[in-house]
Amino acid sequence: MTVRLGDIAPDFTADTTQGPISFHEWKGTGWAVLFSHPRDFTPVCTTELGAAAKLKPEFEKRNVKMIGLSVDPVDSHRKWEQDIADVTGQQVNFPMIGDHDRKVSDLYGMIHPNASDTMTVRSVFVVGPDHKVKLTLTYPASTGRNFAELLRVIDSLQLTSGYAVATPADWKHGDDVIITNAVTDEEAKTRFPKGFQAKKPYLRVTPQPNL
Ligand code: BEZ
Repeated sequence: MTVRLGDIAPDFTADTTQGPISFHEWKGTGWAVLFSHPRDFTPVCTTELGAAAKLKPEFEKRNVKMIGLSVDPVDSHRKWEQDIADVTGQQVNFPMIGDHDRKVSDLYGMIHPNASDTMTVRSVFVVGPDHKVKLTLTYPASTGRNFAELLRVIDSLQLTSGYAVATPADWKHGDDVIITNAVTDEEAKTRFPKGFQAKKPYLRVTPQPNL
């Protein structure tokens, strides 16, 4: 199955290192990041899970729950978590799905057979309060993800869901943003009282409105 932007994130039940969950119920009305790992006891994945665990407080500040997945069973995840703590100093502090029957991997299209028949790729799904998919990322097994980049994107997703703005290349929290073209100049004057600069008629920038 292909899960695309704007789709309702498929609901599922699964065993995790923190007990059985029903995804939509577990996520509640907040945001979630669902991310897959190729296999347990692999080097890149070990570093990724340590990095993700370290940044959990930052995800929590943004009302984002994290949940990992690999096709190994939960008891294997629990053993691996000791290695992750040894190597990275971080206890994995979010649930890890034991997707040994590949139910969730298949539901989300996390197995790309031309990359590997047996392992998931490094997929990321950011799901919003309305259970809709706001972001997808796919990395190969050989390339670890940047979890700070994920936070940066979530800042953009959360900002642009509340204001008629978009964020430019390399934007980070606090930088100026772009007023969307659905907003007329007249409307922009009232909606963005800090003012705006028209670099082109279609490219108007304004200070980040929620600061
Ligand atoms: C890793 O996490 O290092 C890894 C996992 C599967 C294939 C290649 C690398």
